[in-house]
Amino acid sequence: MKGIILAGGRGTRMYPVTKAVTKQLLPVYDKPMIYYPLSVLLLGGIREILIISDKDNVPLFKALLGDGSDIGVSLSYAVQDRPGGIAESFVIGKEFIGDDDVCLILGDNIFYGQDLTAKFEESKRLIEKGECEAVVFGYPVKNPGEFGVVEFDPSGKVLSIEEKPEKPRSDYAVPGLYFYSSSVVEIASGIKPSKRGEKEITAVNEAYLRRGTLRCTRLYRGFAWLDTGTPERLLKAAEFISTVQKTQGFYVACIEEIAWRRGFITKEKLKELGAKLKDTEYGSYLLSMED
Ligand code: DAU
Repeated sequence: MKGIILAGGRGTRMYPVTKAVTKQLLPVYDKPMIYYPLSVLLLGGIREILIISDKDNVPLFKALLGDGSDIGVSLSYAVQDRPGGIAESFVIGKEFIGDDDVCLILGDNIFYGQDLTAKFEESKRLIEKGECEAVVFGYPVKNPGEFGVVEFDPSGKVLSIEEKPEKPRSDYAVPGLYFYSSSVVEIASGIKPSKRGEKEITAVNEAYLRRGTLRCTRLYRGFAWLDTGTPERLLKAAEFISTVQKTQGFYVACIEEIAWRRGFITKEKLKELGAKLKDTEYGSYLLSMED
């Protein structure tokens, strides 16, 4: 399975901070926002990743992350000319995806919880075994109308999925982490832009629901899905990460640590990366890593 991180967008809700730079390069406490979705893909064992952003920000992402060889993965980049919708990722990423399955994660979504890797691997398996063509998650929130909303019957079967409904049929939002078979390229290509002029990811999921091949896995309260869409929420996300890191002594979304623990890089490489940053807390953390 390959991975795509969509990290462009208008970011207008964060002006003026996002006037010159995309939101996904802003810090969430002590690292750029994109480290968080990137770490989710790495934890899920995904090593071929496409990062999509606008033409001004792609060079900045390249400067930050390079070709991925430092962390033992392959990173490539593509430009989205204008924010034409989340589902456009699969049209832009058509060549990259080829005949593979693909996982899409939004560049501004932060996930944290013990179950994350297990849920990721279970979703990957469902797609790889052909048990379904699409897997999304459902996460309980107080403000479902601000997101994609999924409705289930008592057995957990998906009944409906709607984008920012005025009258949500459930309290379950659909977070920005999606798994698909390669059929998503064709499905996404056929999606017509919505009233807001975007190829909606929810329209893709609705198409799979109609085909009877959409699965939804519920995430429960022991799991954190953090929204970073406004200055206030960004601050709260940073406070959350800081609290977890200071309490436990473990970093959240330390991509070098994950790469080493997953066996993508050697201990020597990890120490080399740490040595380059040795004057920072981040570098000391890498250097302190024990088996
Ligand atoms: O965060 C989860 C929600 O993301 C889902 O529940 C919704 O179903 C989904 O539509 C989306 O809702 P938003 O309205 O919050 O999406 P937003 O426009 O804020 O974009 C989400 C991320 O994707 C953000 O990092 C910017 C990036 N993006 C978005 C669009 C539309 C792009 O890079 N290009 C785009 O064309």
